[in-house]
Amino acid sequence: VLAPPELQEKTLVLVKPDAVQRRLVGNVIQRFERRGFKLVAMKLLQADQGLLDKHYQQLRQKPFYPALLAYMTSGPLVAMVWEGYNVVRSTRAMVGDTDSAAAAAGTIRGDFSMHVSRNVVHASDSVETARREIGFWFQRDELVAWESGDQDYTY
Ligand code: PPS
Repeated sequence: VLAPPELQEKTLVLVKPDAVQRRLVGNVIQRFERRGFKLVAMKLLQADQGLLDKHYQQLRQKPFYPALLAYMTSGPLVAMVWEGYNVVRSTRAMVGDTDSAAAAAGTIRGDFSMHVSRNVVHASDSVETARREIGFWFQRDELVAWESGDQDYTY
């Protein structure tokens, strides 16, 4: 039985290079698993400028963009796609405010980040953005449809 459409919403999460270097990948993954979301794609890669220019196309004119590029290419990052009910909104809440000082304790940034320039994770900000971003980071056949019976329906 395939999950109903409302359970198939997807979002892109990037575990940024600072988090890989700090060995935080497992902690981030565990939070999404514990919440009940389903991992449907994941890879470790060294991002290049071409990919980041697409991903951050709205930010290319910002004064901080060169620093953001240097940060995001400073080492490998982990790209993941998580699936589930309201996953885009829930993930943004779990990630916390972009401004680390404003990020609530208990959120990923509130627990691990001191400053926006090293803010540990990226998460898509809407269902439409997620669809576009997932397309930048993954080939269609890298997304895996799988089922876990009743575990998919625990909301
Ligand atoms: S803006 O200006 O409102 O569009 O920016 P904002 O939505 O707050 O942030 C968009 C992404 O840019 C990152 N950002 C920065 N990176 C490095 N240095 C500085 N100063 C900085 N300011 C914002 C911010 O983390 C967002 O990245 P993602 O990966 O989407 O979280």
